[in-house]
Parts: sequence; structure tokens; C-alpha cells
Amino acid sequence: MHRLLNFILPLAFIAAGCSSDQPAVTLKEHFKNDFLIGAAIPVDHVKGLDSKADSIVRRHFNSIVAENCMKSEKINPEEGVYFWDDADAFVDYGQRNGMAIIGHTLVWHSQLAPWFPLDSAGNYVTPEILKERMRTHIATVVGRYKGKIKGWDVVNEAILEDGSYRPSPFYDILGEEFIPLAFEYAHEADPDAELYINDFSMANPHKRERYIRIVNDLKERGLRIDGIGMQGHMGMDYPPLEQFEKSIEEFGKTGLHVMITEWDMSALPTVHEGADINKVMENKELYNPYVDSLPSEISEQWNKRMSECLAMFRRHADVISRVTLWGTHDGMSWRNDFPMFGRTDYPLPFDRNYMLKPAFKNEIARNK
Ligand code: GLA
Repeated sequence: MHRLLNFILPLAFIAAGCSSDQPAVTLKEHFKNDFLIGAAIPVDHVKGLDSKADSIVRRHFNSIVAENCMKSEKINPEEGVYFWDDADAFVDYGQRNGMAIIGHTLVWHSQLAPWFPLDSAGNYVTPEILKERMRTHIATVVGRYKGKIKGWDVVNEAILEDGSYRPSPFYDILGEEFIPLAFEYAHEADPDAELYINDFSMANPHKRERYIRIVNDLKERGLRIDGIGMQGHMGMDYPPLEQFEKSIEEFGKTGLHVMITEWDMSALPTVHEGADINKVMENKELYNPYVDSLPSEISEQWNKRMSECLAMFRRHADVISRVTLWGTHDGMSWRNDFPMFGRTDYPLPFDRNYMLKPAFKNEIARNK
């Protein structure tokens, strides 16, 4: 009997999503007094096609954001045409599991439904028409999930590295006003939902200053804004963590929540901005050096830098209300295909065998 139990118990443990070197305490338990801990999830996961990722999410995370299915090209592909299946399944999944559901994203130049800013001749529509389209899109999407979504990324990636406004259909047609308008429409559609502005490279001082001005302007106009999302797509050599921390502090001083919204860290050599992507592709082996596994010294560096980030987030738990990873396990990360296709990257807390990595295990072990 004793020998039988020795055989059955480990099997039961593995079946329950644990393994002997995996912590008994979950991430959401560990961070329960600090901030929500979330993950972006794709549709196949919501639909039960990645059952191991599903058990990771239910076990460790108390917040989710849709990786793609709420972006306008997916949810509103033609004027007046809405595709709800995936977003409904995502929201239903979050509700069934009692999670804080984040809507992503309402106004964004990328993955924008092509019809949105154009007339039938392919020219930009007038400001009045674009306003009407924004209002209708936001009212319809936010309205459908009213009372179910905790907060929305209302505007995504509006500012360039030099702090100026990004040229985009929204900016080109409406100028700076597109931001306050988007917040006004979102609040109209669900007065109880939290509203966020979200961007990458938030450690950059130009972006930091610009966002503080935007947030103060929205507040002065009496518009609702609850949080600033710092995407947190990182690499081993960027951003400088002291600058990232400075942004957390300065954003926190605005009185809004600070959120780390799309955290991941590439373990691969950085394909520098401005690099000619064709040349990079020719040198793919140089930029994709760890096809079989991550060498232990690189893994140690990655885990050390992730631990530094976790400590930084904890230091600022008074202003950080949520930390969301952009995915769960390395095999599903967008970073395997960005900024070049077909690399093998290691950016997420769980490895390709769905095992929690040392930075996070050590973080949990701090509580013992
Ligand atoms: C941006 C967007 C996200 C996602 C990631 C990468 O940061 O905000 O929706 O597309 O890029 O996948």
C-alpha cells in the first residue's frame, strides 16, 4: 500500500498542475496585499485549446486581458459589423473564474479596422464622421460588457519617443482632441468602468513628461481617467530600470493608479531600433542564438533582472494596482515573432514546459 501511494501521490500532484519543484503558494496569493497579477490570454486558451496554460492562469492570476480579440480589426471588422464570439468567450472565462477583466483596447492606430478612418473612396473621413464612428464603436463595445469589465485601455500608444503625438488616423483627423474625446465616450458607455491610457517605452523621460501633461489636462477638463499603463516590453539591456522606476514614481504623483500592463522580457540579443530588418533577417542565426535552450548564464541574467523588476514593483505597491504579464509561457509569446519572425525567445514567467521560472519561485519563497 505504502509503495502504491508513493506512486499515486506524485501523479496526482502533477495532474493538479503542480510539480515537486513548483511552489505551493500561487502568484496571486503571494501578491494579494500588493497588486493584482494578470496575464494576457489568447482565444485558443479561452476556448480550452491550451489546457495547461488554462490551469496556470486559473491557479496563478486574478486578472486577464484579451491578447487580440477586442482590438477593432477583430471585434468591429466592418462598419456596423461586430464579431462577438471570441470577446464574449473571453469575458465569460474571466467572470466564471472571478477575475478582474481588462478591456484592450478602444482607440489604437495599430490593428485598427481598415474601414474606421476612411470613406468609400479610401480618403480620410471628416472629423465629425470620425468622432461619430469612435463614439459608436466605443458605445457598442464598452456597452456590451458594461458592469463586467473592470477597466479599459481607452487609448493605446499615442505618443512617440520624442514626446510628440504619433501621426495616426486619429491624430491626423482630430488632432490632440482624439484623446479627450475617447475618454469622454468611454465614460458615457460605462460610467463605472475604470479608464486607462497605455503605452510602451514609458521609461523614456519625453514620454513620461508628455503623459503627465495629458493626464493633468484630462483631469482639468473633468474627464475620468483612473490609470496610466506602462506596457513593460523589456529586453536584457533596456529600459534602464532606474528610469522605469522614475516613471512609476512620477506617474504615481498624479494620483492615478500605475499599471504594468504588458510585461515580458526578451532574453535574445536586442534587434536595435533603426536596424535594417532585412539585414537582421540575413543574420538570423546571430539574433536567434538559443534555438534549443537558454544557456544557464543567460538564464541567470534574465532571472536576476526579472527579480529586480519584481522588487521594484513591490517597492511601489502603494501606487501600482496591477502587474500584467503579456502571456503566460514562452511558447505562446509574440516575442518569438517580433521584431523578426521565427526566433526562440524566453520572455515569460513560465517556460515551454509550463514550469515557473526561478525569479518567480524565489519571489514566492520570500514569504516563507
Ligand atoms: C502592444 C499592444 C498589445 C500587443 C503587444 C504585442 O504592446 O498594446 O496589444 O499587440 O503590442 O503583441
